[in-house]
Amino acid sequence: MTSRIDAGPDLAERARGVLDPTSFAYYAAGSGENLTLREAPDGWREPRLRPHVLRDVSTVDTRTTLLGTDLAAPVVAAPTAFHSLATPQGEIATARGVASAGSLLVLSARSSREPEAVAEAAGPWWAQIYCLRERAVTEQYVRRVAAAGARALVLTVDAPYVTPRGAELGPLPFDAGDTGARLSDPATRPDALEQDPSLTPGVIARLRDLSGLPVLVKGILRPDDALACVEAGAEGIIVSHHGGRQLDRVLPTSRALPPVVEAVAGRVPVLVDGGILTGLDVLVALALGADAVLVGRPVLWALALGGAAGVESLLHSYREQLSRAMALAGCPTTADITPDLVHTGREHGTPC
Ligand code: FNR
Repeated sequence: MTSRIDAGPDLAERARGVLDPTSFAYYAAGSGENLTLREAPDGWREPRLRPHVLRDVSTVDTRTTLLGTDLAAPVVAAPTAFHSLATPQGEIATARGVASAGSLLVLSARSSREPEAVAEAAGPWWAQIYCLRERAVTEQYVRRVAAAGARALVLTVDAPYVTPRGAELGPLPFDAGDTGARLSDPATRPDALEQDPSLTPGVIARLRDLSGLPVLVKGILRPDDALACVEAGAEGIIVSHHGGRQLDRVLPTSRALPPVVEAVAGRVPVLVDGGILTGLDVLVALALGADAVLVGRPVLWALALGGAAGVESLLHSYREQLSRAMALAGCPTTADITPDLVHTGREHGTPC
């Protein structure tokens, strides 16, 4: 077990060395020709920064608050499926690492551990939801996560159908009792556990009323969709292409983000994910208008390399890297990371 894990582009290769090849392939996979997957990290390297100088950066504060939850840094663990492929304790280990780092866990609906068991090990957490064709199954799950202490629901909307992924596993190891029981329930229809492809924005209010929790919508790439969700009651928007695992050839989230931020106009927080590998990427995402970022695969790699301690170390590393980048950009607090930090070529009316 490795305990020191630095955020960065070489993490996947390190994890490849400790994961069995099918699990690595499942985590790493994109869809189609992997164009979206490959482009994602480069999107954060495109913008050029205009750092401030002569600002007092003798102390830098990375803390932020999201929907009432205090975070050590604006970096959240994205919902990803089947953590037991990385370590036997699965999401329980992830939850411990995330809590120790003062971050927030978004628990996948395809978690390999029961939400109640994860909740016991977790600090603050949100529950990601897929709305399934059999509504009763989703409703029961929503009630369970609300009772177990989830502070918000994250409704993932970019997967009306699950895209086949080149290098994916065969039958998945459902070792969560609840999922296993549901799968074998003879009363449920054969397609009961498929995602419901008929959803419309009305589902947002239904989930809020059912759970009493704020609902964020994940998988938004267009400003008009973001606005429709906010108008239907969403209390947060997550700009995401599912880590390049759904529709291929969609635009990088770094480019989708600014128009969404503009449309939402501060009414609710806007989060973003996809290829965010370093603290400097986080700074760029915040400068482009995000309130926080989510990281998916890096957490899985850290979990495989170091269990709970690995996840904690990774999140500390993102925070340290962000703190250093903020200092060099002249931003002592996250509130100082404003859009004018990014060079657009239109500053002072002189295109260049
Ligand atoms: C995911 N993602 C995902 N999203 C979701 O809403 N529910 C889920 O169960 C999963 N499962 C999942 C499994 C694996 C192995 C990956 C890699 C991703 C998408 C995830 O939440 C997030 O959007 C991306 O992972 C972000 O991109 P990066 O950080 O992995 O580049």
